[in-house]
Amino acid sequence: DKTKSWKKLVNIAVSGAAGMISNHLLFKLASGEVFGQDQPIALKLLGSERSIQALEGVAMELEDSLYPLLREVSIGIDPYEVFEDVDWALLIGAKPRGPGMERAALLDINGQIFADQGKALNAVASRNVKVIVVGNPCNTNALICLKNAPNIPAKNFHALTRLDENRAKCQLALKAGVFYDKVSNVTIWGNHSTTQVPDFLNAKIDGRPVKEAIKDTKWLEEEFTMTVQKRGGVLIQKWGRSSAASTAVSIVDAIRSLVTPTPEGDSFSSGVYTTGNPYGIAEDIVFSMPCRSKGDGDYELVSDVLMDDFLWERIKK
Ligand code: LMR
Repeated sequence: DKTKSWKKLVNIAVSGAAGMISNHLLFKLASGEVFGQDQPIALKLLGSERSIQALEGVAMELEDSLYPLLREVSIGIDPYEVFEDVDWALLIGAKPRGPGMERAALLDINGQIFADQGKALNAVASRNVKVIVVGNPCNTNALICLKNAPNIPAKNFHALTRLDENRAKCQLALKAGVFYDKVSNVTIWGNHSTTQVPDFLNAKIDGRPVKEAIKDTKWLEEEFTMTVQKRGGVLIQKWGRSSAASTAVSIVDAIRSLVTPTPEGDSFSSGVYTTGNPYGIAEDIVFSMPCRSKGDGDYELVSDVLMDDFLWERIKK
């Protein structure tokens, strides 16, 4: 359509591109539902030597889908090539945990991947690349990645806690008997692990404090919190593998929250780098907190947040 003005191509790198999460995510990215129907994209798929055949298969399926916004698909196993000039890096590729494992147990195996990829981003990516770390333990991996990329603003790195936010919203909606679009301001504080803190103090249902709609405080403090904390592990027990489709959806949500203005009064959760003791939280870590965005890819922390002893004790833990 010659009358339509297209935006400048956005280069998106996806690691673990032959994996299950990516298989859901890539087609959403290509369809335009993430970056918008006027935003052409190039997909740069990073895999490993072991997955190269599968990666070729993924690229073939993307090509065969004839997405009008998908202008280029490339594949590779060298992050220094794949990350060249990328505007977004969605770092999914890592060993997933199995039944009964904690995510922290993956650090030995996965930490090195994110050190190497941080170095590669530092060397060749756009100086304003936005990085979303999905591979676990994602907070620590994001910290490792950003420490290895000193020439890219630390603020540009995110650890994905949006899946936890979505899980928390679902539980609150089910308990209150409302549709989930009535649930807002749900913050996940801290780590994408079983110590994470789903915040029901600041959360709202129909614009009002959650406690007005859900009177069962014991449920909020115990069952709700534990359900959200353990959701990923329970899913692994049932499926025999970790979440894939809902993770892809939450990556889409996380990106959209950064490229579209946050609705008035709402917020979204993301694991971000702490500077200047935000909310009294330690500096120099990656911690999930409430964010807002103007839609320019950047974010700011929400300033008016309620804190009580219960919430603070859990955040400290
Ligand atoms: C999840 O929360 O589903 C993912 O982090 C996978 C996992 O290990 O639980």
